[in-house]
Order: sequence, then structure tokens, then C-alpha cells
Amino acid sequence: MTNTNMIDKSEADFLVWAKQKQDHIEIVLDEALPSKTTAPEMLHDAMRYSLLGGGKRVRALLCYAAAELCATDAPVVDAAACAVEMIHAYSLVHDDMPCMDNDDLRRGKPSCHKQYDDATALLVGDALQSLAFDVLSTPTLCTNANQQISMLNILAKASGSSGMAGGQAIDLASIGKSLTQTELETMHQLKTGALIQAAALLGASSGTREQMSAVMLYAEHIGLAFQVVDDILDVEADTSTLGKTAGKDADSSKPTYVTILGLDLAKKLADQLYETAIAALAPFDEDAKHLRELAGFILHRSF
Ligand code: IPE
Ligand code: IPE
Ligand code: MG
Ligand code: MG
Ligand code: MG
Repeated sequence: MTNTNMIDKSEADFLVWAKQKQDHIEIVLDEALPSKTTAPEMLHDAMRYSLLGGGKRVRALLCYAAAELCATDAPVVDAAACAVEMIHAYSLVHDDMPCMDNDDLRRGKPSCHKQYDDATALLVGDALQSLAFDVLSTPTLCTNANQQISMLNILAKASGSSGMAGGQAIDLASIGKSLTQTELETMHQLKTGALIQAAALLGASSGTREQMSAVMLYAEHIGLAFQVVDDILDVEADTSTLGKTAGKDADSSKPTYVTILGLDLAKKLADQLYETAIAALAPFDEDAKHLRELAGFILHRSF
């Protein structure tokens, strides 16, 4: 009983922390975006539509949680969280386009190309990607130029053909094929894991070598767990809970952890990845509290 109450209290505390950070990043993102009355109005309106007012903001939360471990300066963390959420939103806008997953629903609303049109969705992705690097390269952001350049490099590598875009290419080339578990892992590490790792590493960018390598190990495992859970939710959750079309992977003949391992083993794998992520944080105490709780949130989320 006491134990249950303690778990409930720590969960409740985590949700309060997460909500406060989600509200905060919403303001940061809003301020970083051009207003919808700034020309070209439709593009700016569509950028705001795609970036604001939705999403769990897991990548921003990872930035903030890792920053707590390493005492990274608040404006630097805000810029990093903002940049990662911009790259992520761009990846979703393009992911939903007819030439990719052809999904009409995202974050409970019509996908960007449905609300606007294909050309606008393409440009929203392009512009959000540029804006991410604009925000992170702001000359007055960081007193340590080496740290800032290394942050830009982390984000660039995680977004490009050896990161998210590369993973998306493998994903599209895998339709209708049966991949080995190793091939699937590579695909998931790139399309989803890379940006999740970048989020945590950017938050930890002022940390010591020991802190950064622990965060890297943590994020590698929780990043893969994130996509394993996404594959499971695609099968188990419904469209209104997900805010995106359920059952889409099977409909599109995508190889996933569920098709390769089955639901039970996929869930076991997610649990193991979670445990390894938590183990990576063993050298740290309360400073890693939110990283630990976030790992639990990623594992147990319902959407
Ligand atoms: C969805 O990411 C796409 C994947 C990488 C699996 P999220 O589940 O983080 O989407 P939002 O940001 O909460 O909408
Ligand atoms: C998308 O993976 C990963 C990226 C957008 C980079 P999915 O295609 O599985 O994401 P959802 O399920 O549409 O959110
Ligand atoms: Mg996809
Ligand atoms: Mg998709
Ligand atoms: Mg999916």
C-alpha cells in the first residue's frame, strides 16, 4: 500500500514536471516560428499548424532531463529542445506524404498535406529543418563555441542520410520485404533512434565524458525501445487514442518488430531495452531521476 502510494506520487510528480516542460517548449517553439501574418503566409501558417499544439514532446523532455544531469545552461537547452522538435515535426510531415506513408491523420488532425497541399508539406519540412539549424546556430546562444559547433554536428548527423533520413530510405525500401532482426534494428536505430539519441546528447552537451557516454548508452536503448513501442501501438491501440491511423504498418506491408518477433517477444524486447537504458544511469543519483522516469513513460505510453 505504502509502496503503491509512493509509486503514484512519483508518477504524479513526473507528470507535473513533464507538463511544465511541455508547456514551456510550446512557448519556445511559438516564439521561434514566424507569425502566420508574415509572408509567405500559407507556408508560415502550415509550419505553425505542424509544429504547435500537439505531440508528446518526448525529444524535448529528453533534452531537459539530460540537461538536469549535466547542469547545461537553460537557453542552450531550450534551443536544443526546440531544434530537435522542429526536425522531428519536419520528419512527420514528410513521413505522412503520399510518396511516403500516405497518412491522412497526424496528432489528431489532418496531416499537413491534407490540410494544405503536397507542395506546402514539402516546403514545411524544408523550412522547419532550416529553422532548427538557424535556432541552434544563433551566435549569441552559447559562450562556448566548440560546444555549439559540436551540438550542430550532432543534430546534422542525426537528421541526415546516416540518421533519420537514411532510416526513412531503408523503411521505404523494405516495404513488402522480410528483414532480419539486425536489419530491422538498423532501420529503427536510424529512422527514430538517431534523433532521440541526439535529443539526449544535446541536453547533456555540457556534461563530463562520463555523463555523456552514460546518456549516449541510455538513449541508444531507449531510442530503439521507442520505435519498438510505436510498432506495438500500431497494432494494439486505436486511431483516436493514437491521433494517427492505427494498423497502418500491416496495411502498408511494413516489416516491424511485431511482424518479426510477434507481440509478446516485441514487448519483452522493449522491457529489456528499458532495463539496459536504466542500468546505464546507475552511476547517477537524483540528477538522473527524470531520465529514468522518462524511460518508463516511453515504455508504458498509450500513444
Ligand atoms: C512518432 O513520434 C514517429 C516516430 C518516430 C515513431 P512520436 O510518437 O514522438 O510523435 P509525437 O511527436 O508525439 O506526435
Ligand atoms: C516514422 O516512423 C519515423 C519518422 C518520422 C522519422 P513511422 O512511420 O512508424 O511513424 P508514424 O507511426 O507514422 O508516427
Ligand atoms: Mg514511416
Ligand atoms: Mg508513418
Ligand atoms: Mg509507426
